[in-house]
Amino acid sequence: MRRVAIDLGERSYHVCIGEGLLDAADSFAGLPTSATAAIVSNDTVAPLYAQRLKAVLQQRHARVLDIVLPDGEGHKDWSTLNRIFDVLLAEGCDRQTVLYALGGGVIGDMTGFAAASYMRGIPFVQVPTTLLAQVDSSVGGKTAINHPLGKNMIGAFHQPLRVLCDLSTLSTLPARELSAGLAEVIKYGPIHDPDFLAWLESHVEALRAGDPSALAHAVARSCEIKAEVVGADEREAGLRAILNFGHTFGHAIEAGLGFGVWLHGEAVAAGMVMAAELSARLSLCDATLRPRLEALLQRAGLPVRGPRLGAADYLQHMRVDKKASAGEIRFVLIDGLGRAVVRPAPDALVAEVIESLCA
Ligand code: NAD
Ligand code: GLY
Repeated sequence: MRRVAIDLGERSYHVCIGEGLLDAADSFAGLPTSATAAIVSNDTVAPLYAQRLKAVLQQRHARVLDIVLPDGEGHKDWSTLNRIFDVLLAEGCDRQTVLYALGGGVIGDMTGFAAASYMRGIPFVQVPTTLLAQVDSSVGGKTAINHPLGKNMIGAFHQPLRVLCDLSTLSTLPARELSAGLAEVIKYGPIHDPDFLAWLESHVEALRAGDPSALAHAVARSCEIKAEVVGADEREAGLRAILNFGHTFGHAIEAGLGFGVWLHGEAVAAGMVMAAELSARLSLCDATLRPRLEALLQRAGLPVRGPRLGAADYLQHMRVDKKASAGEIRFVLIDGLGRAVVRPAPDALVAEVIESLCA
């Protein structure tokens, strides 16, 4: 088992990465053994993995509840969140109850928000089962649900007690979802680690084929980089925003097409291409970064051109991004390979980039 430390003072914890962690006794050492645990999952993941997790938790807790939510980003909302609270209250769950989030980023974000707010905060453990959740969403304590007027607009910072990344769960993940997760892996190269970018260039096929040692390295290195950034800026006062490389354009794609048409990682992939081009046009990075990224993203099975929504639509959607300030859009830009900055850019230049990189 590899471990990555998330150093946040009294809220510190470990990301544990390995095969078969889901029901290995070692994974749970040191976690609370209070009377009740609840596994929150969805109707796709629960049939695959909940029973194994439940069996091991039953050795640690007198009672283990199952909360199975409907699958999908469309259910990341108040009414689905309430179903968690309904069970916790109906079953008389106290403040020591531990929630286990078993699933992708949707389940992780919703369970984390439920844990942040039930009785003003209870402990929870992340058991991410998508690549995206293992390399990004389960780490760092951002939790949220969507509002009809904006994605992830209602939420809280609440750190888990531990993150258990069982790499073997990725074997059942659809190929399209694995590729979407690779977009979030690839982003760590340009923003922080050129050597990791080069490593990804020589291992992308192995990752898509599910090679265990390649996946272990990709997940561990991604979590190490995220740990460094979150450790320096837990609540996104500044630096943490660099983790949103490609996300400003990506958010416009998701919102413009309607959420769920493109996967988040797919939108981020096309968004990173536009952000790299914008960085080059602002003379922040070399013009070779954009084609280099495109080649890697294509090999990862990801789109490199955004949909043709029109620059005005992109700009309108980008103005409701959480990084926007007083209506001014702020972009994560590459300021020399391995370093990212967050800054505004002239609308006319952004529009040119959009028009040239949408098909
Ligand atoms: P997801 O949770 O919707 O999972 C994708 C699909 O894969 C779902 O249908 C799910 O049921 C299925 N699935 C999950 N694990 C599986 C497995 N092992 N085998 C088979 N199927 C499996 O999507 P996601 O990409 O994991 O997460 C996206 C969400 O994460 C978005 O809501 C996004 O806002 C959020 N997010 C949060 C953060 C954060 O920091 N909190 C960061 C990035 C993304
Ligand atoms: N996924 C971006 C963040 O955690 O800040």
